[in-house]
Amino acid sequence: MKMNTIYKGDCRKVLKDKIPDKSIDLIFADPPYNLSGNGLKWKNKGYGGDWHMVNEDWDKMSEAEYLQFTRGWLAECKRVLKSTGSIYISCTYHNIGELIMTLKLLGFTPRNIITWHKNNSMPSMTKRIFTHSCEYVLFFSKGKNWTFNYEELKKINPEKAKDGANKQMRDLWVMPVCQGKERLKNKSGRAAHPTQKPEELLKRIILASSKKGDVVLDPFLGSATTAVIAKKLGRKWIGIESEEKYVKIAQKRINES
Ligand SMILES: C[S@@+](CC[C@H](N)C(=O)[O-])C[C@H]1O[C@@H](n2cnc3c(N)ncnc32)[C@H](O)[C@@H]1O
Repeated sequence: MKMNTIYKGDCRKVLKDKIPDKSIDLIFADPPYNLSGNGLKWKNKGYGGDWHMVNEDWDKMSEAEYLQFTRGWLAECKRVLKSTGSIYISCTYHNIGELIMTLKLLGFTPRNIITWHKNNSMPSMTKRIFTHSCEYVLFFSKGKNWTFNYEELKKINPEKAKDGANKQMRDLWVMPVCQGKERLKNKSGRAAHPTQKPEELLKRIILASSKKGDVVLDPFLGSATTAVIAKKLGRKWIGIESEEKYVKIAQKRINES
């Protein structure tokens, strides 16, 4: 297995062919949520611009296909993780059930469900439900002696005690959806990747559950947020991405970081 490399392909096959048993310290996965629509566009209705639904072929499966897909990549993740390793998976209400059930059936142990409150989330377009403003990050360990850098997290926790002292980090993280300078744009000025995650999210996860020199793997690398932050924090990384256009964006971003 090559370090600091993007493997292009389906992560189920790449994991099987290239990544040895018990070789990875931490996995962050941001899988398809299986919520793509038909690209339905809401013209600007006073909410600060047009609104496009995620519309990607890799994000459209039947329920049965999605369960089978989830089981396939998660079983490989279990095999490649060290016994001290953890997996973090980002999700929404669309796929949290399938993920938790599969993780439990595979023998992972739940440690936290982190709620990411997106304080710049879009308003509800249909006005028939509460406004969605949260995603979740599942934190499961493979064994009983998982790495957890409690003191490091206290240092970077923006919440302080009344006397200004560092505080334990809670499982509620408030941060905006990736925007501004951090958001990669294509030539026409639109987001280069539809689901780019905030760097702060990856910083907390990587600092919490890996040490310098450890290997961090992301089976759904996208625009390479995980690789960029792993590199910045002195970790080795491996990314897997199936789409050529995103491999190119990711490699450029890593080279420039
Ligand atoms: C939700 S996005 C990840 C975004 C990433 N966290 C970021 O910050 O840019 C999922 C990515 O997985 C890729 N993908 C979808 N199915 C895949 C598969 N079976 N194997 C590898 N990559 C896949 C998609 O092309 C997409 O870029």
